[in-house]
Amino acid sequence: MTLRNILIHPDPRLKKICDPVARITPDIEMLAADMLATMYDAPGIGLAAPQIGVNLRLFVMDANRDPEAEPQPTVLVNPEIVSSSDETNVYEEGCLSIPEQYAEVTRPAEVTMRWLGLDGKTHERDFAGLWATCAQHELDHLNGVLFIDHISAIKRQMITRKMVKLKRERAREKVAEA
Ligand code: NI
Repeated sequence: MTLRNILIHPDPRLKKICDPVARITPDIEMLAADMLATMYDAPGIGLAAPQIGVNLRLFVMDANRDPEAEPQPTVLVNPEIVSSSDETNVYEEGCLSIPEQYAEVTRPAEVTMRWLGLDGKTHERDFAGLWATCAQHELDHLNGVLFIDHISAIKRQMITRKMVKLKRERAREKVAEA
């Protein structure tokens, strides 16, 4: 298992529409294991393949925030929304590709998703609460959409400027370390 480097916005690889996964192979299983390890290490509740520079329709999540509870690592390959509720929910979202920036995003409160599991079978499940928000946020990533694309242009530009600055600082630190 390898911890992968998480791309920081702005990055053209975060703006692409990802390709479907043709079938579950050992490479896909390894990718999913790496992504789960990277997500838990961050720590985060979701991570999509494009965030580690892999242009495939695959994301992992575990929106169980109770530290006492059993982990629920969930891998969704080629996920799609089957139906979503009219009722909406507002959540203060963040993203591992946009560290330490948060904004309120409105999304359907409940969604039914269908996906291919690592077992090669089709799964379908209703997600509610934080799981629903997280699943929709991650699915967005597979279509090149970030949570800041759901907020005002002014706030988005403000956050993007901060990220450009953060990336510049990190690049400088790397040079200093070398
Ligand atoms: Ni994200």
